[in-house]
Amino acid sequence: MALSGVHKNKGELRIHESLDELRTDLADYVAELSEASVKERGVFAIALSGGSLIGLMGKLCEAPYNKTVDWSKWYIFWADERVVAKNHADSNYKLAKDGLLSKVSIVPSHVHSINDSVSAEEAADDYEFAIRQLVKTRVVSVSEISDCPKFDLILLGLGPDGHVASLFPNHPALNEREEWVTFITDSPKPPPERITFTLPVINSASNVAVVVTGESKAESVHLAIDDIGPDSPLIPARMVQPAMGKLVWFLDKLAASKLDSNLNK
Ligand code: 6PG
Repeated sequence: MALSGVHKNKGELRIHESLDELRTDLADYVAELSEASVKERGVFAIALSGGSLIGLMGKLCEAPYNKTVDWSKWYIFWADERVVAKNHADSNYKLAKDGLLSKVSIVPSHVHSINDSVSAEEAADDYEFAIRQLVKTRVVSVSEISDCPKFDLILLGLGPDGHVASLFPNHPALNEREEWVTFITDSPKPPPERITFTLPVINSASNVAVVVTGESKAESVHLAIDDIGPDSPLIPARMVQPAMGKLVWFLDKLAASKLDSNLNK
């Protein structure tokens, strides 16, 4: 492991020397959370995002994780999804299926992807309904303080503009407080139609990990984590602050290069 530190209430920072080191640390982290959750609750409810995240999780498909993780207890969700067909190149489901889920022994009925044959609005409603059923049966736990679902782990990427899931800067979806899942039809990152977990759901999770690599994200990482002045833009990633859960940032050296608190400096 490279450098690690706790940065006030902005979570734990894990800064890695190489992508390979980050991949191993991420696989260890997910495997450990899975084990702890299965021990405590009998299941592991994990929400994925799209982008480079899935590739960075690739070590989970390799030894020892492919054999040691109790895949049969995993329930898979998406923190955000593009409203396209499941076999479309833009689908986050397809990305995860091709890159991870098809390579390990996940139970097909535990994979909770969106309804891809309806509008973005209906897909968001359907997804929230599906999650509500699983909260009733406690496949997904419930937050004691917000009544929101409490996922065991939500994995997020970070855009160069500071977006997480499909919560983009200055977008009204950031203000959603009632819905668990909302929709947008004007995503600045294509494709335009998406569904996304809302901030109350992200911030109710037991664990949230933000996985960020590359220099193009360095400014957003700085704006999300460092003590910035009141005139600095409030980017969505800065609003990720789990109320009771634990936040961990997985960064490579380039993504961490603009952090005031960069332990490398
Ligand atoms: C999406 C993603 C999105 C992604 C970030 C980072 O569906 O577009 O969920 O939030 O995680 O844009 O993507 P990269 O890691 O590929 O830059």
